[in-house]
Amino acid sequence: MTNLKGSMDAFIQQAVEGIRREAAGRPVLCALSGGVDSAVCAVLAQRAVGDKLTCLFVDTGFMRKDEGDQVTALFRGAYAVNLIRVDAEQRFLDRLKGVTEPERKRKIIGEEFIRVFEEEAGKLGEIGCLVQGTIYPDIMESGEDGHKQVKAHHNVGGMPTCIDFKAVIEPIKLLYKEEVRECGRMLGLPEAFAGRQPFPGPGLAVRCLGELTKPRLDLLREADAIFREEIEKAGLQSQMQQYFAVLPGVQSVGVRDGARCYEEMVALRAIATRDFVTADSVRLPHALVETVVRRITSEVEGVNRVVLDVTPKPPATVEWE
Ligand code: XMP
Repeated sequence: MTNLKGSMDAFIQQAVEGIRREAAGRPVLCALSGGVDSAVCAVLAQRAVGDKLTCLFVDTGFMRKDEGDQVTALFRGAYAVNLIRVDAEQRFLDRLKGVTEPERKRKIIGEEFIRVFEEEAGKLGEIGCLVQGTIYPDIMESGEDGHKQVKAHHNVGGMPTCIDFKAVIEPIKLLYKEEVRECGRMLGLPEAFAGRQPFPGPGLAVRCLGELTKPRLDLLREADAIFREEIEKAGLQSQMQQYFAVLPGVQSVGVRDGARCYEEMVALRAIATRDFVTADSVRLPHALVETVVRRITSEVEGVNRVVLDVTPKPPATVEWE
């Protein structure tokens, strides 16, 4: 434990010094996504360059329920970071209109994200460095570092060449998720944040198969919030690394108020993993699943069927797109 703490202390010190050295007195910009990776990067960057740090939170419209407000409150409040929040939901939805192919969705989201980021950075005057929360599994699964590509993680290698950052700094690119959390705890991030389940950069977009529309995303947000609430009410969250709802884009026949209905299906996914390279599905208590199914089909308008995804990784990935 002492050694672990000692080496994490050393890592933090080196990361802070590294950011300071690479920034070389220039302003630093950090994209906050809502997840632990970018949060840790922001705190490291704040330690490294203080007031020279500006954080940018792009609300893509693909966040979980209430997440944008929680991120803003934490960083503007407790950390007193200079945080710019951009409401880009409509912009993303416009660019993704009619797009259903998973890799194209990811690519568009990645590009649009950088574009919004670039525009906002331009408004700040001199552009210095960009700090990104890439972690080691992202690099492996994007085919860098000699590994075979699984899918295009939006925060690796997707940087348009026209971008004018002097340097892109990735302070936690050699860490696995659990190490990032430990780092966050040592940096004083609240447990609700340091222990927060990972959430992909493209957010609910990779859990909403088919065309991304506001009503479908709102439906998924509600179903996901119910599932998470029930898992947490049962105190089961420490037994799994991720638990979330997916909207597979499948409609099926059902009966509501004695009449035929044809509505969306929601899938529930709960996984346990050490490194996110492989994962097992978690055996949820049947009573809990029944409660979640009952609540989703009665509280979320437009859902008449709920299924459980118990597929391990491989062959399935954690996310559905
Ligand atoms: P997969 O779906 O590849 O997920 O088995 C492994 C872990 O990575 C997360 N994930 C992402 N994280 N940008 C991210 O920052 C992404 O595009 C992305 N796609 C997947 C996923 O939630 C899981 O924790």
